[in-house]
Amino acid sequence: MKSPIEVFSDWAISGKDDGMRKNHFKPVMKMIELFEDKYKNPYIIDAGCGNGWLVRHLDENKKCKKIIGVDGSKSMITKAKNIDPKNNYICSELDLWKPDYKADVVMSMEVMYYFKKPEKIIKHIFNNWIKKNGVFIMGIDFYLENKKCHDWKEKTGVDTMELFSSAIWIKFFEKSGFKNVNKYFFNEGQEWKGTLVVEGFKF
Ligand SMILES: C[S@@+](CC[C@H](N)C(=O)[O-])C[C@H]1O[C@@H](n2cnc3c(N)ncnc32)[C@H](O)[C@@H]1O
Repeated sequence: MKSPIEVFSDWAISGKDDGMRKNHFKPVMKMIELFEDKYKNPYIIDAGCGNGWLVRHLDENKKCKKIIGVDGSKSMITKAKNIDPKNNYICSELDLWKPDYKADVVMSMEVMYYFKKPEKIIKHIFNNWIKKNGVFIMGIDFYLENKKCHDWKEKTGVDTMELFSSAIWIKFFEKSGFKNVNKYFFNEGQEWKGTLVVEGFKF
């Protein structure tokens, strides 16, 4: 078993990371729809940006004033910077990093369950990353109701993958201070419960 960052670094080197855009694109587009009417020209942070495909998508489609991608894998960040020297990519563990300026919108796709205690990183994002009236929108495919994902830990050989129900994820948001917490299931299919998306506002 390897740590999440080690496994995803291997993916960046082998090219397996290219599949992440393909697999995450549809639910992530629905996540963008959740904020784009409410925030005009927002400052966005992508927490666990991988190779940076979402950063580039948001920039190219003029969905933001400024965007930063943060990821703990050096290989992912090197790849992102090579593809796109213009945008800002930072290599750091999410729980050790704080932005200079707080963001309007924090997005995170398929990252939060790689933390032993997700409530801690969610609280850190609430306290240090998001402005008043900002929003955190998290998407995950690995959660209790989505039975198809239950063997992913064995399949991927990642040592830290925490399986919680959607109700527990909502609690993590509420306990961190987020208000108006909502959940959605995007891109449902046969035997696939969909991406669990949780949004929470900081008032
Ligand atoms: C499944 S990938 C998702 C990447 C991207 N969000 C996407 O949708 O393509 C998970 C990412 O989280 C990053 N990650 C995992 N644990 C992390 C941590 N503690 N700090 C920073 N990044 C982390 C990994 O390096 C990896 O790039």
